[in-house]
Amino acid sequence: PVPVLEKQSRNLTQEVLDKLDTKEPLQTAEDFPDVSQQEIKAALDRLGSRSMVKYETKETEQVLLTEESEAIVQDGSHEFKVWEAAKQQGGIPVKGLKIEGRPDAWVKAGQGTAIRNKWIKKDGEKFVAVPDSVEDTVQEELKGIQETKSISDAKRLVDLKKRKLVTVGKVLAYSVTKGPSYAKEIPVEVTDLTADMLADGSWKEANFKPYNFNALGAQQNAGALHPLMKVRAEFRNIFFNQGFVEMPTGHFVDSGFWNFDALFVPQQHPARDMQDTFFISDPPKADRPRPDPDTEKQMDAMEAGSRKLFATDDKKETKPRNYEEYWDNIKKVHQEGAFGSIGYRYPWSEDETLRLVLRTHTTAVSTWVLHRLAEDPRPARYFSIDRVFRNETVDATHLAEFHQIEGVIADFGLTLGGLMKFLEDFFSKMGIENLRFKPAYNPYTEPSMEIFGYHVGLGKWVEIGNSGMFRPEMLEPMGLPKNMRVYGFGLSLERPTMIKYGVSNIRDLLGHKVDLNFIESNAAVRLDKN
Ligand code: PHE
Repeated sequence: PVPVLEKQSRNLTQEVLDKLDTKEPLQTAEDFPDVSQQEIKAALDRLGSRSMVKYETKETEQVLLTEESEAIVQDGSHEFKVWEAAKQQGGIPVKGLKIEGRPDAWVKAGQGTAIRNKWIKKDGEKFVAVPDSVEDTVQEELKGIQETKSISDAKRLVDLKKRKLVTVGKVLAYSVTKGPSYAKEIPVEVTDLTADMLADGSWKEANFKPYNFNALGAQQNAGALHPLMKVRAEFRNIFFNQGFVEMPTGHFVDSGFWNFDALFVPQQHPARDMQDTFFISDPPKADRPRPDPDTEKQMDAMEAGSRKLFATDDKKETKPRNYEEYWDNIKKVHQEGAFGSIGYRYPWSEDETLRLVLRTHTTAVSTWVLHRLAEDPRPARYFSIDRVFRNETVDATHLAEFHQIEGVIADFGLTLGGLMKFLEDFFSKMGIENLRFKPAYNPYTEPSMEIFGYHVGLGKWVEIGNSGMFRPEMLEPMGLPKNMRVYGFGLSLERPTMIKYGVSNIRDLLGHKVDLNFIESNAAVRLDKN
């Protein structure tokens, strides 16, 4: 037959009522030595809410056995084991006696005590047993302590503590007396008020079950924010606190013009080929750059916010954006060189620039925003956190789509040192100190720097972002003044989220393999602030 595991459910509330009938007050530590005080408290609260019992909480000391004294209670003191061995084996060696389950130090101590007790004595090369039987008082004493969890002789307690045979711990226990509604059993309780009870008046006499205000509520089936969205909210706050406004990044498809050419990325750049970019085949071609009414509306709102933050005057006289001129400038700066640059000097293809792509970085949007800024150049700070797409081999740390956090700062007279200081402040807001910068290359920034942070958990330097000062070849074709400088930096949202939530495989965070339980139950995030 298959053994069936039976759940032993003890009716503790009934046991408390039974015991109280004959003993009052009841001391839970002594009267229920084998039940945890937590369980007892739950039973007492049940009875207390019905005024059937009253109780007081007491902090009591409990004397507890150690591993060593538990072994003694189990099968005898060390001296007893030594005597027993001497008796059974007709003598034991003076040195090196082994007793199963007892470390050598215990055996040695037991041997000393056995000699002092005159339980064994030296006989030639051996120790032999002296009396035929002995009384193991130490074991008896410890057994008593195990049962009562207390010891009356204070001096003895100090002694046993010193010998590491007992420890003293504090526990909560309860002293229980009968309450005004005490009865030998919990009376039958009514849980629902019915129309009948109201009609016939029986509700007046009914014994209603009291509400349990300590009970946990039922689990709610509610929505939950994805960890990425929680970390995103933290980053948005960091940006908002520093005077950034959010760029509208709602469109994932853009033309090569905004994603690459306007950023001075040459048309033969390896990042543009099939390896890294998802090209759209339908429709086959984008329109030439022009303002998009929906996005313009969002940009208007963004600009209004930015002006407020920087206390800049309302738009006064502005230079309207001229998309034809911009187009020509971009063509020229690539093909022949312009604005003091010798350019790339290759035939710039209009078809290539009008190919539609899934944007490979949010810098495509920053470009758009900067082109708008050229209408009325002034100090401004912009950020965005949104999705980008790269045609990459998917593995534990790479997905074909991820989120970029991007910041752009435009002002006059900015320097590279200022960017480094800004980034140090920015990353310190999420608990990353001691940045290191490594010279890098982006077609659209010069100089460019990779940002490294020391990850205490991983114990190594990890790349956390990319940054730089946008090139004149990008800014001047837009019409931004020569003395305006623009910082840019970008990092992934996934990297800090994975670190925060201890996720090592990006596919556990994003995509079809994500465990919904993980999404629902993970904690709110606090980027460590200082
Ligand atoms: N676009 C860069 C990237 O995708 C990030 C970046 C933004 C770098 C702005 C410099 C300036 O990694």
